[in-house]
Amino acid sequence: KEKLKIGLLGLGVVGSGVPEILIAHQEKIRQVTGMDIVVEKAFVRDIEAKRALGDAFNIQLTTSINDILDDPEISIVVELMGKIEPAKTYISQALEKGKHVVTANKDLLAQHGGELVALAQKTHCDLYYEASVAGGIPILRTIANSLAADDITNVLGIVNGTTNYMLTKMVNDAKTYEDALKEAQALGFAESDPTNDVDGIDAAYKMVILSQFAFGMNISMEQVSVKGIRGLALEDVAMAKQLGYEIKLIGASQKTGESIHVEVSPMFVPKKHPLASVSNEYNAVFIESSGVGESMYYGPGAGAKPTATSVVSDLITIAKNIRLKTTGHMFNAYRHETLLTSDEE
Ligand code: NDP
Ligand code: HSE
Repeated sequence: KEKLKIGLLGLGVVGSGVPEILIAHQEKIRQVTGMDIVVEKAFVRDIEAKRALGDAFNIQLTTSINDILDDPEISIVVELMGKIEPAKTYISQALEKGKHVVTANKDLLAQHGGELVALAQKTHCDLYYEASVAGGIPILRTIANSLAADDITNVLGIVNGTTNYMLTKMVNDAKTYEDALKEAQALGFAESDPTNDVDGIDAAYKMVILSQFAFGMNISMEQVSVKGIRGLALEDVAMAKQLGYEIKLIGASQKTGESIHVEVSPMFVPKKHPLASVSNEYNAVFIESSGVGESMYYGPGAGAKPTATSVVSDLITIAKNIRLKTTGHMFNAYRHETLLTSDEE
């Protein structure tokens, strides 16, 4: 069987899940792609650090990025380190060297997506990032493919698992803000520095990417008004419940004429709205469009297994592209050409 060799950058919560999913679904992946997808090497900060992965995975750990970037046998780089740098440099170098890239890095895609997509197109490489928005929910594919014949007017999302988990625990179990945050961190939902989660910035990154897909327009973070849940007290969430509402951190993106308004803030959601029942680390994206009408996409928005499953689905897409010799021509599926156009203007 042909082997598709992967270089993994980062072996944390999501990174450790990727080899596990690849092994668990090896036979199925073989059937749909005709290939074995294997993690050959992983770039880490500390080789000696204790990791969840057993030795059985036979992954070569390295602290030298060039071990991966200069390895001609590695055809796909999966970036799961997070933050802007050095992820941006490594992804750019991988694309320049003709390697396809999969990432779950919404910080990077929301702020430098256009630039990276342009580079991927120039080097005829694939760049996929389904896991960057709403973890395990295949929402980018759905908007780009299944809603391609529709006209979206409004997107409402609970797109941060950490804050939704915290709010659920504060409302249902009367946990304090601090204790609820500690739990979300222990479960691997929060970023390594949870500031972006609690301050709404992570949700804003995701709303920027979602809006680009939904409306085909390049939206920058500066255009998004952002307020998080920091400092929210138990009394606030209890009062919302008494009044018949759920308090949720909502990302809202609305198209009016030719303009798009995007904001993230805690909102009172009426109990009868489908978003009100989304709890714990689950996410949901509620879409209004002229054709389908109202639809909602729901599932786990954070966590190792759902997110790694989404990353592996991108790997399978790339393997299929390679098999069909269509590498470099899949951008339409992700509406990348729209991003490109806006960036070049
Ligand atoms: P973790 O913090 O658990 O893991 C990050 C990994 O990258 C660690 O192994 C870390 O090494 C390594 N790393 C970070 N910086 C460097 C560097 N400069 N050089 C070498 N290695 C580095 O993060 P997650 O797995 O939670 O998240 C990874 C990405 O996935 C992020 O972009 C995140 O936003 C995204 N994501 C996460 C989800 C989740 O549920 N956790 C869901 C959806 C997306 P070390 O172990 O030494 O610190
Ligand atoms: N920290 C993020 C969250 C991870 O809580 O939603 C998933 O992107």
